[in-house]
Amino acid sequence: MRIPFNRPFISGREFEFIQQAIDNWQISGDGTFTKRCHALLESELGIPRALLTTSCTHALEMVALLLEIKPGDEVIVPSFTFVSVANAFVLRGARPVFIDIRRDTLNLDETKLEDLITPRTKAIVAVHYAGVGCEMDTIMAVAESHSIPVVEDNAHGLFGKYKGKHLGTFGALATLSFHETKNLSCGEGGALLINDPQYIERAEIIREKGTNRNRFFRGQIDKYTWVDLGSSYLPSDILAAFLNAQLESREDIQSRRKRIWEYYFEHLKEWAVNHAVQLPFVPDYCEQPYHMFYLLVPSLAVRQALIAHLNAREVNSVFHYQPLHLSSMGQQFGGRAGDCPITERVSDCLLRLPFYNDFTEGDQERVVAAVKDFK
Ligand SMILES: Cc1ncc(COP(=O)(O)O)c(C=O)c1O
Repeated sequence: MRIPFNRPFISGREFEFIQQAIDNWQISGDGTFTKRCHALLESELGIPRALLTTSCTHALEMVALLLEIKPGDEVIVPSFTFVSVANAFVLRGARPVFIDIRRDTLNLDETKLEDLITPRTKAIVAVHYAGVGCEMDTIMAVAESHSIPVVEDNAHGLFGKYKGKHLGTFGALATLSFHETKNLSCGEGGALLINDPQYIERAEIIREKGTNRNRFFRGQIDKYTWVDLGSSYLPSDILAAFLNAQLESREDIQSRRKRIWEYYFEHLKEWAVNHAVQLPFVPDYCEQPYHMFYLLVPSLAVRQALIAHLNAREVNSVFHYQPLHLSSMGQQFGGRAGDCPITERVSDCLLRLPFYNDFTEGDQERVVAAVKDFK
């Protein structure tokens, strides 16, 4: 039996909650289950407002609208990340300014921030790769000294912490992903986390097609109308019901993933030293949510050979992120080879091993044995 890279997971009450949403005759957005997800995220993270969205991509698009990004603005984003992080701002006419990453955590290199800031810089996006926190003390201090808002892309890191504080609670705004590959999922979904209350009202409007429908539902106005830019960024309550079940099972899910991550680490650490392979690094002041397990092998040739070797043993492994500055869009914004050397090397050499919530120990043993069998 082939071992997939990822497999969706049913944690227990998904179908029951979906049935309840249908029985409530309330399957469009912002129904009972959406509200339950909002309340749970707000209380667990200790933040003023969480809003479910149709994806992390859409939450990032909402961020670009909220920060009033316009043509000529610049936004600092890591080159080693998912396309939506840059695209959401490019859609508003901004130029992405690509920053390289640190060798250890693969997060943006905060020591390079000052050099990239110009009077046109309108946001810094900190992506917590693999759910391991960026150097938030430095990032926040640099951003505050220039009065630039920080956005955290926490697609990988829900319930991760940096120095005891939840990821997604540092920047003015933060985003989450509930895509099928994430720890907690509803297939396609995301959330916008609002830490700076000045953005709450406008975020509700942008998410509801530019209307003040939320104020109408709260009884604050008699009828609702078109008041601002916006789109339809709210998911169906059926998806929220699925997600609510996963959120309620978060402790079980996170402990399963901890076991899987630790098994890989324990069984591969010696092999990694002997084969010049770098394993994930988690600073002792970071608590990770065990989102992924990767190997950083010595070269592109070795990476491709290892993927082929695992594939021949019925194990799916994948690489992650092509450098954005070298993509055809990135080059249109001036990206050139050599701009972000660590990103370029990591993109060639990184490989992600299978990782999903109901990964059995037997299957994981097979993956580890296949890796160790690689010559
Ligand atoms: C860092 C990061 N941000 C954003 C996204 C986009 O997430 P979604 O598929 O929910 O739009 C991804 C996708 O995996 C990602 O890795």
